[in-house]
Amino acid sequence: MKFSIKSGSPDKQRSACVVVGVFESRKLTLPAERIDKVSDGYISDILRRGDMEGRLGSCLTLYNVPGTLCDRVLLIGLGKEKDYREAEFSKAIRVGIQTLDELEVSEAVLFLTESSVKRRSGPNSVWRIRQAALIAQETSYRFDYYKSEKGRKESRKRASGGALDKLTFIAPRRDELAIAEAALAQGSAIAEGIRFARDLGNHPANVCTPEYLAETARHMASELKLHCEILGAREMEKQGMHALLAVAKGSRQEPRFIVLRYQGAAPKVAPLVLIGKGVTFDSGGISLKPAAKMDEMKYDMCGAAAVLGTLQATARLQLPINLVALIPASENLPGGNATRPGDIVTSLSGQSIEILNTDAEGRLLLCDALTYAERLKPDAVIDIATLTGACVVALGNLASGLFSNNNALAKELRQASESAQDRVWQLPLWEEYGESLKSNFADVANVGEREGGAITAASFLSRFSKNYPWAHLDIAGTAWKSGQRKSATGRPVALLCHLILQRVKRLENP
Ligand code: BES
Ligand code: MN
Ligand code: ZN
Repeated sequence: MKFSIKSGSPDKQRSACVVVGVFESRKLTLPAERIDKVSDGYISDILRRGDMEGRLGSCLTLYNVPGTLCDRVLLIGLGKEKDYREAEFSKAIRVGIQTLDELEVSEAVLFLTESSVKRRSGPNSVWRIRQAALIAQETSYRFDYYKSEKGRKESRKRASGGALDKLTFIAPRRDELAIAEAALAQGSAIAEGIRFARDLGNHPANVCTPEYLAETARHMASELKLHCEILGAREMEKQGMHALLAVAKGSRQEPRFIVLRYQGAAPKVAPLVLIGKGVTFDSGGISLKPAAKMDEMKYDMCGAAAVLGTLQATARLQLPINLVALIPASENLPGGNATRPGDIVTSLSGQSIEILNTDAEGRLLLCDALTYAERLKPDAVIDIATLTGACVVALGNLASGLFSNNNALAKELRQASESAQDRVWQLPLWEEYGESLKSNFADVANVGEREGGAITAASFLSRFSKNYPWAHLDIAGTAWKSGQRKSATGRPVALLCHLILQRVKRLENP
């Protein structure tokens, strides 16, 4: 979808559709008021008759409104003005875009970013435009890469419309045009990062292998002038990454350890390190998973995808920070050479691990990456992983699980999450949770008791991340949607990008 921005009045737009908002209790937004005025009360008449009450998420399409130059005016209900916050704004935009899709218009002018939103950090036109661009991109996402030409046409028809490809936003005032342009650039870059992460997640495991992830990283590096280094099994062996290697042993696909660096600040500035779990297919290994829904385990690399999407957006925006992506990538399959339950390996940290369940493979890859991260002398490390089914049980698919050994970092993430509308919920990491990971034979076991499984997994990781501020995001419930419209969501790219933007802003005005 193409975005552009201009200033102007709603009645002067030559467009297929002009979108304006109305609050409950017949309270018009400024653009709606303007149209009402040129049309001699056309909109207020409708409101008075009760055809549209302004309830949040309601909508009404008007044709040939007197005094306007557009074909249609789309009214979107915004709910009560006093309750108009981030979530309400996002919902209104979503409904607007969906309705435009159904109307099958190819272009529209959106005035919904004009009315201010009650935000904790104050109303903010940059936020509104950025968020609107994100949502527009999200609503129009389709993945029909593997459909035949015929199948593609049919599925587009079924999804209704999808013709919308040009959206114009309105900058409140002419002198705010430059700020709005910058906001739009941010929104587009983040949206592109999300789309990129979703595509990577949706590709099947016979295409998206560890080498495919590595190839993707190399490609990004040459396109965006990043520094890229990729370790194969031999190099990992040399380094002593035996926890990572243990996961890969059952697969014919060689594992990869991807190190991708973006330098936007002086070399001496400590980097933010993002680690993404890159299990391209998780069958469980010898501790084989049941067959139902096992196809969804192609999504077990969504942490890696999110990290790559975030790096891409950051590099495109040339943000002044240093960012390093670490991606341990492997398949987890059973086989004649696969790791067995009870096997003991020595991780890069030197701690020995008794692998009691080969299906708890994520923490094995991640622990070696967490140890590797120490060499980068990081300012902070965040790992992102589809780590536990237990996290899905605890939080469902609304919020990602957040764990941290550092209160300031956790707070930063919670704030970014609110601003990105990409929710997280923090769970505790008390010492006692680690007790069930005791092993009779090794320094630690890779599984503990079933209860509180998301926390025991995080507790395992915390043993490898003691030397820097660290946070862990368990995205098992949020990285993809199941069911008929199964798809990767691209979460938490928005959250991570907002975190980076927040950090940049803090640098600019400390
Ligand atoms: N990739 C899975 C986690 C997962 C499961 C994500 C279901 C989304 C939906 C992970 O590798 C795994 O298998 N975890 C095990 C851990 C257990 C063996 C301690 C789990 O959650 O069952
Ligand atoms: Mn597993
Ligand atoms: Zn897994």
